[in-house]
Amino acid sequence: MLLLPLVLTGLFATGTAADNSTWTENVQGLFSESMTWMDRYYDSSLGYLYDLDREDALRHNTRSSAWYALGLLARNEDNDVDEAEKIIANVIGGQFTDESKQWYGTYQKYPEEPEVGTAVYPARIYSSWDPNWRGFVGTTFIVMLEEYSDRLSDETQELILDSLYHATVGDTYRVGGVNGDNLYPAYSNPAIMRAFVSGWLGHRTNDDNMTTSGEAYAQEIIELFNITDTLSEFNSGTYTGVSLFGLTLWSTYLPEDSVMSKVGPVMLRETWEAVAQLWHPGMKNMAGPWDRAYGYDMNRYLSVMALWFWAYLGKDASSVIDQPEIMTHSADYAWAPLVAVLANAQAELLPDDFFDGLKTFDEDRIFEAQAYYPPYDLDIRNITTSLSEKVTVGGMTYRQTQGGGPTGSSTSFTPAVIQWTTDDEVAFLTLRPTERALRSEVSPGRLSLTYPDGDASTVFTLAVSTFLGKPTLSSLGDIPGLEISVSGNVNTSYSLAFAGENGGSASPAHTFEYWSFTFSMPDEFEGAPNLLLELQPR
Ligand SMILES: *[C@@H]1O[C@H](CO)[C@@H](O)[C@H](O)[C@H]1NC(C)=O
Ligand SMILES: *[C@@H]1O[C@H](CO)[C@@H](O)[C@H](O)[C@H]1NC(C)=O
Ligand SMILES: *[C@@H]1O[C@H](CO)[C@@H](O)[C@H](O)[C@H]1NC(C)=O
Ligand SMILES: *[C@@H]1O[C@H](CO)[C@@H](O)[C@H](O)[C@H]1NC(C)=O
Ligand SMILES: *[C@@H]1O[C@H](CO)[C@@H](O)[C@H](O)[C@H]1NC(C)=O
Repeated sequence: MLLLPLVLTGLFATGTAADNSTWTENVQGLFSESMTWMDRYYDSSLGYLYDLDREDALRHNTRSSAWYALGLLARNEDNDVDEAEKIIANVIGGQFTDESKQWYGTYQKYPEEPEVGTAVYPARIYSSWDPNWRGFVGTTFIVMLEEYSDRLSDETQELILDSLYHATVGDTYRVGGVNGDNLYPAYSNPAIMRAFVSGWLGHRTNDDNMTTSGEAYAQEIIELFNITDTLSEFNSGTYTGVSLFGLTLWSTYLPEDSVMSKVGPVMLRETWEAVAQLWHPGMKNMAGPWDRAYGYDMNRYLSVMALWFWAYLGKDASSVIDQPEIMTHSADYAWAPLVAVLANAQAELLPDDFFDGLKTFDEDRIFEAQAYYPPYDLDIRNITTSLSEKVTVGGMTYRQTQGGGPTGSSTSFTPAVIQWTTDDEVAFLTLRPTERALRSEVSPGRLSLTYPDGDASTVFTLAVSTFLGKPTLSSLGDIPGLEISVSGNVNTSYSLAFAGENGGSASPAHTFEYWSFTFSMPDEFEGAPNLLLELQPR
């Protein structure tokens, strides 16, 4: 149950970040390093960043350009502000303004893109157009107006307000389950942004209908959170970072009478408390299970959470390497200016010493939580994670409407995860879920997985990391650092395959190569398939 604090935080605090002399050294480092990196991708002749994924034949990118423009406004040196205004005008020039289209109010993904919804370039949600970019770009525009309006011309500010109007109204076209859209209040990160932009713009322009619409959408998100005290989109290195960003906006830029400014600080704190339990400072990873993963080791893919950890714990203690731009999913490094600008505002919502406890692993523990993501969850999910210095084991129990979680991706929805340290690296073993329901039981050194609706044709597929010190595996016994014994009612013979960039019978997942161990059921099996893994560090 959500308990409101007696003294409400989240007063109408504006302009908190503009004075960058209050930024900590860590925040300044995050900001400056990321800007130096993005400066080299900036195409001033066009007023856009080149795409930050390096395999793009010098196409440009709208969303990261908007984030960079915020960074330019914050840095405010030489011609930074002029370049920012140029980018802002370009981004808005690429916004879809035909109200009759489903993609009304979102932003084109790149300036070279053909017209969406034509015979030669059909509209495809999350592909030729992305409904979430209304929120990503819209929230960035609001941070610009809140923090740096004195650096922006009146004309640019008008342009932004007009653009926010289109983005807000366009976002109301989104109804989960209709026209291929999936924006339910449970889709936490864009839902939080949608409620915020609508509430903020309604206040700013005295559009009561818009205010009411944002507040009502926020109420739905809050009621959902209140069931389990967790975000529906739970524990994701990338998306928990985005939701925390959104909750910081709720808590910082809305008037006192907004339900978002009242409840946002509580949701933010409870979300951080779960993160603090799952964060393993030794492994520099958030232990599993993960609702949505873009990789299986946060030291090798760049997550938005890593940028928050950089801001609060320092770069060395965070899960980025010295050269973050080399990591998988590095385009998300472009979130850094937003994270830097909002770092103080978020820290003010947490206890003073909150981050001290995240610097060293000092206590073996069992973390338990629930999460609920309707309409995909048919029942509340149960999550248990065991953390010790050398091994973490996380498992989820769920019953859902489809395989692969709400987004239908069995490489991203990761309901069972073991991570451990070898001499060289952080290793992982994950379940590649193949069924719509799973029961997990977790205790230190033990993971039991049962597919309640399975049968003789059920398989358990485990994806195991590659190892620098042992490039070729021929059996489970070859796995470095962890002795794994298998039992349950599966046939303990297994097939082994390699998912390699250049060979092997499977393909890497989110660029991670892995070993695939597949267990089948014995001939003529009856009952609920179960695989039991017992683990011993070695
Ligand atoms: C802080 O702001 C000043 C003046 O606007 C600017 O010169 C400086 O580069 C900024 N610092 C960072 C870390 O961006
Ligand atoms: C008010 O908001 C609702 C829901 O967001 C929308 O459908 C409706 O068109 C709006 N009405 C006006 C007058 O803006
Ligand atoms: C959360 O739910 C409880 C009832 O279970 C209710 O009393 C409380 O007001 C709710 N809190 C919010 C913020 O909605
Ligand atoms: C999770 O646990 C609760 C009770 O603790 C139970 O009611 C619910 O059915 C469980 N969820 C699943 C998917 O089994
Ligand atoms: C287990 O799998 C092996 C290898 O596929 C097979 O030879 C054996 O017959 C299976 N055992 C049972 C009980 O199904």
